[in-house]
Amino acid sequence: MLWTIFLLLNGLLALVILYSSRSRQRNEPPLDKGFIPWLGHALEFGKDAAKFLTRMKQKHGDIFTVRVCGGYITVLLDPNSYDTLLDDKVSLDFSRYAQVLMQRIFSLRLPNHNPDTERAWMEQHFQGPSLARLSSTMHLHLQTLLRDEERSCSPADWRQNGLFSLCYSLLFRAGYLTLFGAENSNDVTALATVYKEFRTFDGLLAKLARSTLKQEEKRAAGLSQERLWELLSPAWLSRGKGSESRSWQQSYLSHLQTEGVDTEMQRRAMLLQLWATQGNAGPAAFWLLSFLLTHPEAMRAVRKEIRGLRLQEDGALQRHPLDTLEHRSTPVFDSVLSETLRLTAAALITREVVQDKTLRLASGQAYHLRQGDRVCIFPFLSPQMDPQIHHNPQTFQYDRFLNADGTEKKKFYKGGERLKYYTMPWGAGDNMCVGRHFAVSGIKQFVFMVLSRLDLELCDPTAIVPPVNPSRYGFGMLQPDGDLEVRYRLKTLH
Ligand code: HEM
Repeated sequence: MLWTIFLLLNGLLALVILYSSRSRQRNEPPLDKGFIPWLGHALEFGKDAAKFLTRMKQKHGDIFTVRVCGGYITVLLDPNSYDTLLDDKVSLDFSRYAQVLMQRIFSLRLPNHNPDTERAWMEQHFQGPSLARLSSTMHLHLQTLLRDEERSCSPADWRQNGLFSLCYSLLFRAGYLTLFGAENSNDVTALATVYKEFRTFDGLLAKLARSTLKQEEKRAAGLSQERLWELLSPAWLSRGKGSESRSWQQSYLSHLQTEGVDTEMQRRAMLLQLWATQGNAGPAAFWLLSFLLTHPEAMRAVRKEIRGLRLQEDGALQRHPLDTLEHRSTPVFDSVLSETLRLTAAALITREVVQDKTLRLASGQAYHLRQGDRVCIFPFLSPQMDPQIHHNPQTFQYDRFLNADGTEKKKFYKGGERLKYYTMPWGAGDNMCVGRHFAVSGIKQFVFMVLSRLDLELCDPTAIVPPVNPSRYGFGMLQPDGDLEVRYRLKTLH
C-alpha cells in the first residue's frame, strides 16, 4: 500500500515538474499549455481542430504555441506570413514528422527515404504526357463503371443511395483501376473488396494518426491493414497481366526497389500511396454535388456551361463524350470546385523546427521558435474561412471565384493587402499536392458524366448538406457526418 502511494506521488511530482517546466520567453509566441498535465490541449485539438484553433486565435491572435501530448506546436494563421515558413528548408523540416505519421498510420519505415527523389518521381508521373495518359485511362474507367451503374437503372426506375457512398465508391474504383492495375478491371469482387477494406481503414485513420484507437478498433485497423497489404501486393496486382502493361503502381514499385526499399516495406508503401491518391477525390466530388443539389442557382449555371460545351463541339462531344474536357475552359465549374474546396479542404501543414529560428511575420513582428517544437499552418481557418478575406465564409457562393466578366477571380485582399494565398486546398510550396491536376480532371469528368447521363435529385427536397465529421480536420478533404440521400435514374435522351 505504502509502496503504491509512493509511486503515485512520484508520478504526480514528475507530472507537475513536466507541467511547469516551460514558460514563455521574450520574443516567443503566446504560450497556452492547457490545464491537463502533459496532454495539454490534445483532447480538444483532436476532437475538433477547427473549433479549438478558432478559440486560440480569438484568445491569442495569429500566432500562438500550444502544448499537445508533451510537445509544443506553434500555429501560424496569417496567410501573408506563410511564405516565411514554407520557404525555410534549413531550420524547418517537412519529412521528419511525415515519417512519424507514416510509421504510426501505415506501419511504414523508409530509413533511406529521400523526399526530393520521391517528389521528382511523383512529378514526372503526374505531369505532362503521363498525366494525359492517366486522365484518359481514368475517363475510360469512369465510363465503364458508370455504365455498369446505369445498367441497373432505367429511365423509368429511380435508384436510391447515399451521395457520399456513390461518389466515393465510383471515384475510388476508377482511380484504383487507373493507378493500381488495368487488367483486373473485370474482377468486380476484388475491386469491391479493396474498396470495402479501404473505407474501414480510412474510417480509423484519424484515430490511428493520434494514437487514440480503442482496443477493438486497434484490432480492426490491424486486420484491415493486413488485408490491404495483401490485396496491394505486387504478386496479387500483377496476376494475369502481360509483361507489356506497366501500371503506375508497377513503376512506383521499381522506383522503391531502386531506392533500396525491402519487399515488406514496398508492400506497406502501397497502402500509403493508395490513401494519398484515392482518399480525397471521392469526398471532394461528394461535397461539390451536395452543394449543387442544394443550390439550384449554382446547378443551373453548371448545367448551362455543360450545354454550352456540347454546342461548341457541334456534335463531336456526343460522339466522344467529354473526351478532352480538361482542356476546355469551364470557368463556372472551376469556381464551383474552388468554392467547394475552400469550404471542405482542411489539411494541417506541419514542419519540425530542427534548429532555433526567428519567424518574421508580414506585420514586421518577429518570434523565436525553439528547436524540437513543431510549427503548423491551417489554411482552412485562414485564408479559407477568414471573414476578412471571404465575405460570409460559411456560405457556399458558387461564383465566389468568378469576375463579373466570367473570368477567374484571383484578386482577394485582407486589410487592404492583396493576398498571394486566398485559398490553399492543395497546400503550397515544395510539398504542394503533386496529384492536383489529376484530381481536378477526375472530379470534373465524374461530375460532368453524372450530370449529363443521370437525373439526380435529393430524396428529400428540403435536405441540407450534412455537417462535417469534426475529427477529420487536419487530414486533407473533410468527410460528412452522415450522408445525403439521393435518387437517380438514367436520363431520357431526346
Ligand atoms: C481533392 C483532392 C485532393 C486534395 C484536396 C489534396 C490535397 C493535398 C495536400 C494539401 C497535400 C500537401 C500536404 C502537406 O503539405 O503536408 C497533398 C500532397 C500530396 N498529394 Fe494530394 N490532394 C488531393 C488529391 C490527390 C490525388 C488524386 C493524388 C494522386 C493521384 C494526390 C497525391 C498527393 C501526393 C503524392 C502528395 C505528397 C506530396 C509531397 O509530399 O511532396 N493528391 N495533397
